[in-house]
Amino acid sequence: MCGIVGYIGNRDAFPILIKGLQRLEYRGYDSAGVAMISPEGNLNVYKKKGKVSDLLDSCKDKDKSGNIGIGHTRWATHGEPNDVNSHPHYSQTKDLVIIHNGIIENYASIKEGLQKRGHTFLSETDTEVLIHLIEDIRKHEPEMKLGHAVMAALNQVNGAYAIVILDKNDRDTLIAAKKGSPMVIGVGKDEYFIASDASPIVEYTKNVVYIEDEHVAIIRRGEELKIRTIRDKEITPYVQELEMELEAIEKGGYDHFMLKEIYEQPRSIFDSMRGRLNSETGHLKMGGIEEHEGKFKNAKRIIVIACGTSWHAGMVAEYLFEEYARIPVEVEYASEFRYRNPIIYPDDIVIAISQSGETADTLAAIELAKTKGATIFGVCNVVGSSIARATHAGSYTHAGPEIGVASTKAFTAQVTVLTLMALHVAKVKGAIAESRYRQLLYEMESIPAKVEEVLKLNDSIKKIAAEYKDAANALYLGRGYSFPVALEGALKLKEISYIHAEGYPAAEMKHGPIALIDEAMPVFVIATKGPNYEKVVSNIQEVKARKGRIIAIVTAGDVEVKKMAEHVIEIPETDESLVPLVSVIPWQLLSYHIAVMRGCNVDQPRNLAKSVTVE
Ligand code: AGP
Ligand code: GLU
Repeated sequence: MCGIVGYIGNRDAFPILIKGLQRLEYRGYDSAGVAMISPEGNLNVYKKKGKVSDLLDSCKDKDKSGNIGIGHTRWATHGEPNDVNSHPHYSQTKDLVIIHNGIIENYASIKEGLQKRGHTFLSETDTEVLIHLIEDIRKHEPEMKLGHAVMAALNQVNGAYAIVILDKNDRDTLIAAKKGSPMVIGVGKDEYFIASDASPIVEYTKNVVYIEDEHVAIIRRGEELKIRTIRDKEITPYVQELEMELEAIEKGGYDHFMLKEIYEQPRSIFDSMRGRLNSETGHLKMGGIEEHEGKFKNAKRIIVIACGTSWHAGMVAEYLFEEYARIPVEVEYASEFRYRNPIIYPDDIVIAISQSGETADTLAAIELAKTKGATIFGVCNVVGSSIARATHAGSYTHAGPEIGVASTKAFTAQVTVLTLMALHVAKVKGAIAESRYRQLLYEMESIPAKVEEVLKLNDSIKKIAAEYKDAANALYLGRGYSFPVALEGALKLKEISYIHAEGYPAAEMKHGPIALIDEAMPVFVIATKGPNYEKVVSNIQEVKARKGRIIAIVTAGDVEVKKMAEHVIEIPETDESLVPLVSVIPWQLLSYHIAVMRGCNVDQPRNLAKSVTVE
C-alpha cells in the first residue's frame, strides 16, 4: 500500500531514495517518483507509472544531484495509475512538491475553492489539491513559514495522510506530517530519513521517532528535529532504538521473501513464545493480559476484529477461547464491523489482530469500539504501528518483518500468541484443568520442531504442486480448528497464483459446493486424527464418489485416508487445538510452488498490497 521516503543530510539523496523505495516495493504499488533539489537550486522531479526500475530507466541521463529529496510509490485511489497522477505533485507555482500516502476525503470541495481562486490542476489526484492549498495559504500570509502553512492546511482536510513536502527555495528543510497512514523518522548523524516503515532506515540508523497522528515534523539540516501538533503545540520527539536488523529485510539466499518467511516459522513461533511460556513451571506470562486480568476474567464476550489472514487467525482464536476459557467469541471482518453500528457492551473485550498494524479498516473499527467503551487488546507484528498504539494493551507477535505480501509467518505467530492468551485467560478464570493446561504448555513448546519436520516435506509438496498448477478452481475443506486453515489455504492459493479457491467447513460441502465436484476439481482436505476424523473421512468419500481429486493432510502413520486420496501429506501428531500451527505449512508451500510454476510475482501479487492503509 504505497510507500514514502525522504532524506536530508550530507549524502546524495537519489540513491538513498531509490533504495528506500525498493525496500518498500513489497507494500504494493503502481507508480513511482522522486524529487531532489540540486546544488544549483533546481527542483528536479522524475515520476512515472510502473516499477521503480522503470523510473530508474527513465531518469538515467537526468540530473539526480542534491542532498535533499523525497520519493514515493503510489497505490492509486484518486486518478488512474499514469505518469501525471504519479507523485511527487507540484504546487501552482511549482515551487513546492509533495508526496502522500492516504486519502484526502474532502479534496473535491477544497479543489473547487482553489479553482475559483485561479488554481489549475494537472492531475486527478486528491494529493495535488493539498499542495495547492498549502501554497494558497502561504500566498495570503507571505510571512508564514511552510511548517505553519502545512498545519493550517491540515486543519482543513479530512482523511488520512503521511506527507513529505519539499520547497525549491529552501534546500535545508523537509516538512513531514501524518494521520492514519504510517511514517517513521530516522535520526542519523547530521542527517534525517523519513519512510513508511523502518525497512529503508535500518541500514543507516537505529534511532527512530514514530511520529503520532496530527503531528508535523519540521526537519532542518544540522538542527534538532522539531515536532508540533497541527494546532501548533510543541511536542518533544521520543527517539527509540529499532529492534529490526538489516538481514531481517533481505532475502537471505531464498528465491522469494515468501519462501524465506515460510522457513522462518520454527523461529518466529519460538520467538512469539519466548519469555512468555515455561512448561516446567507452568508459568505463562502475557504482559498485556495481566494488566487487564479482571477485564478478561469477567468478560462476557470477546469480539475479534481483523482482515484477511489475520481474520483467519481470529477464527482459530474463536475455537481456542471457547474451548479453553469458555468465553463466547465473535469474529468480525473489520470492514463490516465498522459500518454496522455494532452493539458493544463495556465488559466486552475486543481483540484487534493485524500484522502490519496499519490496516485502515481495522484501525477504524478499533476507534469505533473505543467510543462504545470496550477494552481493546492488540495482536500486532510491527512495534510502534498505528494499531499497536491505538489499543489499550496488547501482545506483539515477534515474527520479524514480513515482506512477502502473502502472510505466512505472521499467521502462525498470531495463532501462537492467541493460543497463549486463551490459555492465560482460561487459567485466570479457572476454566481449564491444571493437567490439560500443563499438557498444552508442554505441547506448545514442541510446535517449532514439528513445523521443522513439515518443512522437510517441501520437495514432495512441490511435486503435488506440479500436478495441480493448471487447475482453474480449488476447494479447501476442514472441520473444527481446521476450518480456518481451509480458509487460509484457499486465500494463499488465490492471492499469489490467481487460481480461484474457496475454503469451506467440510460438512458444508453437501449444501452446495459438492455440485462443483468433478475430476477437474482438486479438493484439499485436512483429515488429521481428532474428534472429527471419521466425519472428514466420510466427506472425502463423498468427493471420491463424484470423481473429485483428494489431496489430504493427515496425521503421520494414517493408512485409511491414504487408500482414498490421490496424495497425502503426513504431519506430526499434535493436540487438536494446535493443529492449525502445523497443518497450515503444507498449504503455504503448495500455494508458493504453484504460483512460482505459473510465473506469478509471488512477493508482490497483482492488485495486492502488504498493508491496506486505505479504506
Ligand atoms: C494475507 O496473505 C493478505 N496479505 C491480507 O489478507 C492481509 O492478511 C490483510 O490485508 C490484513 O493485513 P494486516 O494483518 O496487516 O492487518
Ligand atoms: N490518494 C493518493 C493518490 O491516489 C495517494 C494514494 C497512495 O496512498 O499511494 O495518488
